[in-house]
Amino acid sequence: ANPLKLAIIPGDGTGPEVTQEALKVLEAVSKLEKFTYTTNFLDWGGERYLKTGETLPAGGVAELKKYDAVYLGAVGHPDVKPGILEKGLLLELRFQLDQYVNLRPVKLFPGVECPLVGKGPADIDFVVVRENTEDMYAGIGGWLKKNTADEVATQTAVYTRKGCERIIRWAFQYTQKRNNPKGKMLTLVAKTNVLTYGHDLWWRTFQDVQKEFPDVKADYNHVDACCMWMVKNPEYYDVIVTTNMFGDIITDLGAMIQGGLGVAAGGNINPDKGGISMYEPMGGSAPKYTGQNVINPIAAIAAMSMLLEHSGQPAAGARVMKAVQTITGTKMKSQSAGKMGHGTKEIGDLVVGAL
Ligand code: IPM
Ligand code: MN
Repeated sequence: ANPLKLAIIPGDGTGPEVTQEALKVLEAVSKLEKFTYTTNFLDWGGERYLKTGETLPAGGVAELKKYDAVYLGAVGHPDVKPGILEKGLLLELRFQLDQYVNLRPVKLFPGVECPLVGKGPADIDFVVVRENTEDMYAGIGGWLKKNTADEVATQTAVYTRKGCERIIRWAFQYTQKRNNPKGKMLTLVAKTNVLTYGHDLWWRTFQDVQKEFPDVKADYNHVDACCMWMVKNPEYYDVIVTTNMFGDIITDLGAMIQGGLGVAAGGNINPDKGGISMYEPMGGSAPKYTGQNVINPIAAIAAMSMLLEHSGQPAAGARVMKAVQTITGTKMKSQSAGKMGHGTKEIGDLVVGAL
């Protein structure tokens, strides 16, 4: 849409600082690529919760439906009990907006230090497509005999045929479009040898949907083996599709091999007609670094690039991604802004300069 209508949730801790840099880059690229946009800031997060007791405010989802996309800085507040904001705001938004694709590129930018000896940018360049609405995240379970020696807790992993099918089909389509010159391959990552009900459903669905995509190689890895290969042979992967819980875990591993949370970004995407998607840096709110100008804004800027790419401004998105890689290739050594010899704001300026 023109103007592109954005809802901005800067959130807590260092969220607002990195959001500021992403917006700086947005402003610059909008001029160069000649598009217009509007921003509306929403004060959702820990501070608001402490004042009002609300995580996702009443009417919040309806409000977000007025925009083309949502940008989220970070949520997480030291004075709020763990789980409240995560479940009440972040997961609630993903679920209520039915953002069933969590798209997490694992890409080592040039110049970024990688903990894997002998691996470079050509080796670490794959994408994880994480299911984002089901699994153990569904919040189904409970306690029996709570707080006794005989306590039993359950946390049910829920998978539906429709839920598996839509994410698997989307992942095949994505793999087809990504068109990796090394060959198009989609790897299903699950644990079919143990989770013989739920992951059997995933396996059967994968077998069915792959028939629609004869040009994409359909591959399978158990999740434990996948963790091993991500460290030993990351160049093996093109696109991975996986469950919500496994996707959560392997994308933190992915973030580390691409240089850390300071450079890892993701999109919570509802690809259906009229769907509202939300883009975020993967790192948390890092409260103890608030206001110190030391958090690397590259992840936040990469999240803005993803937003543009998926919200009708692909040229602008690509331009931002290219500028990011110019900067990392020449100016950066580490995931933390401080260690790079540049502050948060200076890195934002460098990316603007490289556009
Ligand atoms: C992530 C985070 C969230 C998740 C938490 C904060 C609920 O770890 O985006 O990966 O588990 O999905
Ligand atoms: Mn996570």
